[in-house]
Amino acid sequence: MHHRGGEAARGGDESAVGGVEHGDCVTADGADTGPRNIGVPGAQRNTAGCAASVRPSLVARSPLEPPEGRVALVTGGNRGLGLQIVRALAEQGMRVVLASRSVESGRVAVELLGHLTNRVAVRQLDITDPASVARLAVWLGRRLGRCDVLVNNAAVLLEEDDAMATTVNLDVVRRTLETNLLGTWRLSQAIAPLMRACRYGRIVNVSSGLASLASMRRGLPAYRISKGAVNSLTRMLADELAADGILVNSCCPEPARVEAGDRYHPVRFSASADTPVWLATLPDDGPTGGFYRERRPIDW
Ligand SMILES: NC(=O)c1ccc[n+]([C@@H]2O[C@H](COP(=O)([O-])OP(=O)(O)OC[C@H]3O[C@@H](n4cnc5c(N)ncnc54)[C@H](OP(=O)(O)O)[C@@H]3O)[C@@H](O)[C@H]2O)c1
Repeated sequence: MHHRGGEAARGGDESAVGGVEHGDCVTADGADTGPRNIGVPGAQRNTAGCAASVRPSLVARSPLEPPEGRVALVTGGNRGLGLQIVRALAEQGMRVVLASRSVESGRVAVELLGHLTNRVAVRQLDITDPASVARLAVWLGRRLGRCDVLVNNAAVLLEEDDAMATTVNLDVVRRTLETNLLGTWRLSQAIAPLMRACRYGRIVNVSSGLASLASMRRGLPAYRISKGAVNSLTRMLADELAADGILVNSCCPEPARVEAGDRYHPVRFSASADTPVWLATLPDDGPTGGFYRERRPIDW
C-alpha cells in the first residue's frame, strides 16, 4: 500500500459517472434536495439500471436473488485494492458505488472498467469528513433505496517502516486513527440503518495481518493499532447487527496473484481482492465476526 503523503483530503464536485445523472440530488453546499429525474425514462440509467424510485420500505419487502441487483459501496475505490474490488463486484452483477476522495480520480478509475462502467457510479467520499459521509448516505437512501454491501477499504499508512511505539509522533497516530478507525466507524454507522431497513447486509472491514495480536511485533505502531481497533469494531458490529441479517467480517488481503497488461505495460496489483469479495458476497448462513485471509480464519 502506498499511503504516505496521500492523506490530504481533496476537493471534488458531486457529479457521478457510469449512467447516473449528473448533479442529481446534492447541491454545491452539500444540502440534499431530494431525488430528481425519478420516474422518467432517463432515470432507468441510474447506476446501471437501478430502480431509482424504489423506496426503502418497498425494498425491504422485495427480496433479491444475490448478487444481481444488489448495491455495493466501496471506499477508496479509485485505486489499488479498492478498484479491484469495485471491478469484481460489478462483474458479479452488482451496482457499485465507487467512493473516492477525489471525484476526478474516481472518474479516471471508472474508465478503466470497460463494459462494467455502466454498473458503477462515482461519488465523492472522505471518510474523515462527517458531512461527506452523511451526504453519501442520504444519496444512497434517496436514489438507490438501499446499500447491501459496504467494503471499508480506504485507509492510510502515514509512518515510516521503522517507526517505533516508543518514539512515534502521536500526531501521526492520531491522524491514522482518524481515517482507519474513526472513518470506518463513522461510515459504518451511517450505512447500518440502510442495511437494517432491508434486513440484509455485508460489511467487510479491510484490515491487515499486521494487526494480529497473536503475532504482534514492533514497527508501524499507528497502522497496526488502527487496524487492531478496526478488528474490535468488527466484533462489536457483528454482534449488534446479527439479528438484522447483516454479516460483518475483517480480512487481510493476501498478496496479489492477479497480473494484467503486457510485457511493455505490466499491471501488478498490490493485493488480491479475492477474500474481501468473498466476504462481500457471503450467503445468509455465512460467518460473521471473523478475521480472514485466503478465505480462512486467522488469529486476531
Ligand atoms: N496493499 C497491501 O499489501 C495491503 C496489505 C494488507 C492490508 N491492506 C489494506 O487494504 C486496503 C487497501 O490497500 P491499498 O494498498 O490498495 O491502498 P492504497 O493504494 O494506498 O489506497 C488507499 C485508498 O484509500 C483512500 N483513502 C485514504 N484516506 C481516505 C479518506 N480519508 N477518505 C476516503 N478515502 C481515503 C485513498 O484515496 P486517495 O487516492 O485519495 O489517496 C485510496 O483510494 C487498506 O485498508 C490497507 O490497509 C493492504
